[in-house]
Amino acid sequence: MVSGSFSRSTSARLAARGGVGSPRVSTPGAAHRNWWAAAPSGPSIERIALAFLLASLALVLSCALYLYFFRHPGRDRVVAEFAGESLESCDVFDGIWVPDERYPLYNSSRCPFAERGFNCLANGRKDTEFLKWRWKPRGCNLPRFSARAVLEWLRGKRVVFVGDSMSRTQWESFICMLMTGVDDPKTVYEVNGNQISKTIRFLGVRFESFNLSVEFFRSVFLVQQIPALRHGRRRVRAILKLDKLDDLSQKWADSDVLIFNSGHWWTASKLFDMGCYFEAGGVLKLGTSINAAFKMALETWASWVKERVDLRRTRVFFRTYEPSHWRLA
Ligand SMILES: *[C@@H]1O[C@H](CO)[C@@H](O)[C@H](O)[C@H]1NC(C)=O
Ligand SMILES: *[C@@H]1O[C@H](CO)[C@@H](O)[C@H](O)[C@H]1NC(C)=O
Repeated sequence: MVSGSFSRSTSARLAARGGVGSPRVSTPGAAHRNWWAAAPSGPSIERIALAFLLASLALVLSCALYLYFFRHPGRDRVVAEFAGESLESCDVFDGIWVPDERYPLYNSSRCPFAERGFNCLANGRKDTEFLKWRWKPRGCNLPRFSARAVLEWLRGKRVVFVGDSMSRTQWESFICMLMTGVDDPKTVYEVNGNQISKTIRFLGVRFESFNLSVEFFRSVFLVQQIPALRHGRRRVRAILKLDKLDDLSQKWADSDVLIFNSGHWWTASKLFDMGCYFEAGGVLKLGTSINAAFKMALETWASWVKERVDLRRTRVFFRTYEPSHWRLA
């Protein structure tokens, strides 16, 4: 079953969750746009899905870092700071993908943290245009990502990604983007010497020269999933507690940038077909729909953020659906 404990400075104990893969189906869903929500979404073009992942990472992180850097200002001022354009005209979450010859920002074959399965060129793909997309907010231009500048801003900080494989691949991309600004790649390592795997629950990469940690926690639903008791109903093999955040959440709050995602696992094939049903208030909710359950889980998450995260220190981002890694996604 699932267990994990992690101490920031030294050791970690990990156990992988067995028998689960990354989502192969992508469910179109509403973009939940609330005070905490920003779901950048690009056009669903299967052939450039990976490019979107990389480019949307650049977007999310540029935003994260700028927001972080300027601490508390409202979004408008942050945008104005780097765009020098009118406050009203620029919303960085509202834009389009444009081709840009100056991309990509890194070469996957030169990054030890890029997952082999997502390195299209190394896997034989010949065209490269899919790597050359940039996010363009309607009202302004984002500055080009500068690994060195970002590493300096993040010196002494902890950046945490939480979610499913969408978060994992963005975590990988962010690390690879930062690696281009590191002089000695040997000073960057996974704290437990682990290889990146899709079932591992914790991966932490340390940039030694910058005293920076960039971590990933696998929590596909964000709320707690437990095996069902044996005397329960036979078809119920696992329970998702909609009113309780994942136990791993104890490791999340103490961070400087906290980037969540969830969405792609909220499907019947990942839940009901696997014998996983919902529970709230200690009561099994066999009739609850997946949409209603997702909403409750997000409310649980949002109250956890309000109660447990020091928003004066930590910048919090949440993403829902995006093009996934598979063909026809
Ligand atoms: C990426 O790096 C590999 C290994 O160094 C190299 O063979 C390849 O040509 C590079 N690809 C691009 C597009 O620069
Ligand atoms: C590294 O950063 C932590 C905060 O994350 C800080 O407490 C510690 O003093 C820093 N260490 C060094 C050597 O700068």
